[in-house]
Amino acid sequence: MKLKILHVVGARPNFMKIAPLIRQMDMHPDEFDSFLLHTGQHYDQTMSKLFFDDLNLPRPDVYLGVGSASHGEQTGKIMIEFEKVLLRQKPDLVIVVGDVNSTIACGLVAVKQNVRFAHVEAGLRSFDLTMPEEINRMLTDRIADFLFTTEPSAEENLLREGIVPGKIHFVGNVMIDSLESHLEKAKTSRLLNKLGLGLQEYAAVTLHRPCNVDRREDLSMILDALEEIQNVFPVVFPVHPRTQKRLSDFQLEKRLKSMPNLVTTAPLSYLDFLALMASAKFVLTDSGGIQEETTVLGIPCLTIRESTERPITVTQGTNIMVGCNPERLVEESKIILSGVVKIGKRPDLWDGKAAERIVEVLRREILNFKSD
Ligand code: UD1
Repeated sequence: MKLKILHVVGARPNFMKIAPLIRQMDMHPDEFDSFLLHTGQHYDQTMSKLFFDDLNLPRPDVYLGVGSASHGEQTGKIMIEFEKVLLRQKPDLVIVVGDVNSTIACGLVAVKQNVRFAHVEAGLRSFDLTMPEEINRMLTDRIADFLFTTEPSAEENLLREGIVPGKIHFVGNVMIDSLESHLEKAKTSRLLNKLGLGLQEYAAVTLHRPCNVDRREDLSMILDALEEIQNVFPVVFPVHPRTQKRLSDFQLEKRLKSMPNLVTTAPLSYLDFLALMASAKFVLTDSGGIQEETTVLGIPCLTIRESTERPITVTQGTNIMVGCNPERLVEESKIILSGVVKIGKRPDLWDGKAAERIVEVLRREILNFKSD
């Protein structure tokens, strides 16, 4: 019996999570048949195509091309188009990853069509319902058949929410699978040469959360902090399209460009960004995944958010939450620059083998079930 698996990707942080799963399933061609669907939530070359290239992802079998819109419109469009594909393709299992709008949209369609679906990176909670991702996480987990978790807090959250224990599988972190398998190759990136920067000679910044960039005063205060940091240490800032749009709307581009020790770049490819992170003195971010990647790389990370859904990066990793507090951001940056850094350790099962474990669970639970 062969399982037809429909893998869903939509936005930038999905690609590195699905790639190891497809690779692992392709190693068992007699058991798994992978079908890749891209919703097109992210569509720019830099936000999508470059990642397919770097991660050796196959071309999507179906591209929905939904593009950007309000949450309601984007989620609705994905659902309408995804339902047609699901009815045509009739997969045995749908796999969704992470917490973006594509995740909940496709999970919801699958469950209503009685198609089983797995959520990879289940159970993470920031407990902040103003984050669109938190709503996506909670709802996806409530209706998923298989919940694959990355850290113990996720299982605790799911059990507290009444999820049946048998659905929860602690397998580790697929994003770290990708990091492990691409780190060597990332060393061939020429980005740092191009920027004229060497090992630990700069801080890397990423910023895209609506709570940090969607209001002029918040974004402007973060720029104040970046200005102060770049006065004492070089900063590299690949600018996310959402942030780029806001900088332009709020007429803050000139201000950013006027900082002599801060370089902005377009969003980077997977390998270039890995190279940037791995050689940074420290990272400033509001991303979810980067908190995890810096923990594994042993690079100090200052997270510009009030809460994290990935608490293990704080309790065991190199992550420090500075809140939406620009003064604290400057203060903590200066502490790192003075030589005082948080030493972390690698969380349990973040060992590059999470996809292998997921495939094992699916073989045991579905293939055995089917051959009964
Ligand atoms: C989305 C995810 C977020 C994730 C982030 C990673 C949701 C709710 N949010 O946020 O969890 O951390 O992706 O990047 O799913 N845009 C482009 N080109 C693109 C994509 C977006 O220019 O290829 C611009 C558009 O102006 C768009 C804006 O970015 O309106 C926001 O894109 P959207 O997908 O709505 O959310 P992100 O902020 O990217």
